[in-house]
Amino acid sequence: MEKILSSLVFTNDVSALADCDIIIESIIEKLDIKQDFWEKLSNIVREDTILATNTSGLSIDSIAVRINGKHRFLGMHWMNPAHLIPCIEIIRGSETDDASTDAVIALAHAVGKKTTVCKKDVPGFILNRLQLAILRESISLVEEGIADIADVDACMKYGLGFRYAAFGPFEVVDFGGIDTFHHISSYLNKELCNATDTQKLLDDLYKEGNYGVKSGKGFYDYSGDQADKALKDRDEKFMKIYKALYQ
Ligand SMILES: NC(=O)c1ccc[n+]([C@@H]2O[C@H](COP(=O)([O-])OP(=O)(O)OC[C@H]3O[C@@H](n4cnc5c(N)ncnc54)[C@H](O)[C@@H]3O)[C@@H](O)[C@H]2O)c1
Repeated sequence: MEKILSSLVFTNDVSALADCDIIIESIIEKLDIKQDFWEKLSNIVREDTILATNTSGLSIDSIAVRINGKHRFLGMHWMNPAHLIPCIEIIRGSETDDASTDAVIALAHAVGKKTTVCKKDVPGFILNRLQLAILRESISLVEEGIADIADVDACMKYGLGFRYAAFGPFEVVDFGGIDTFHHISSYLNKELCNATDTQKLLDDLYKEGNYGVKSGKGFYDYSGDQADKALKDRDEKFMKIYKALYQ
């Protein structure tokens, strides 16, 4: 760890980045600020420098509007907490070339990460489209009085999420049987929540200023020292899963 930390260099001078092989930007999630940053940076660096943004959800093409060399620009979304979650989501813009994509994948693998590639610059990329689909149905189950919040979480943690830590949805279907899931989808798809606006349960908490662990209350209570304990517990569990499956 000391060796890693001692090799880091901090600077406010963007010209210090002129000779980098790759630049991964992780500044505030505001489009105009990212556009300004990249316009400036892309004109300072070498022509073969790969340019990556850690944006969680801004359009890659929108960030790239004033970039010099759009073919070498792409999304490299590290998932929070980045030191524990193995996966990095790589998002291609409409002009990103194969060489830049392959180089970023190779870099991620070289530092021990897994990758998932989003071939189109769509809202939510892959991770947040999957995450919000699950969240939308979870909120609906609670709002419809079908299950309590803790029971939805229990179903994910001890059931579905346990599977998903090891196998993706397509692998799960192959184990369960295409015929079985074909039958289920024929009657269940039309029953699922298709809300297009933010749902009330989430909206109410937001309007009350209850933002979750960071404010001391969200769907659960984190007052007093419970927030610190919850974060420690989260990181310990992620580390156990990481060690069990990937170390
Ligand atoms: N927080 C997460 O969970 C998470 C997860 C994955 C990806 N991301 C993405 O990573 C990026 C950073 O997220 P964050 O939560 O650290 O954001 P943040 O709002 O805490 O800001 C990150 C940094 O941006 C700097 N900054 C602000 N204005 C700037 C400017 N004009 N020029 C240069 N730097 C400036 C700030 O000093 C700060 O250090 C965002 O694009 C975000 O979407 C965040």
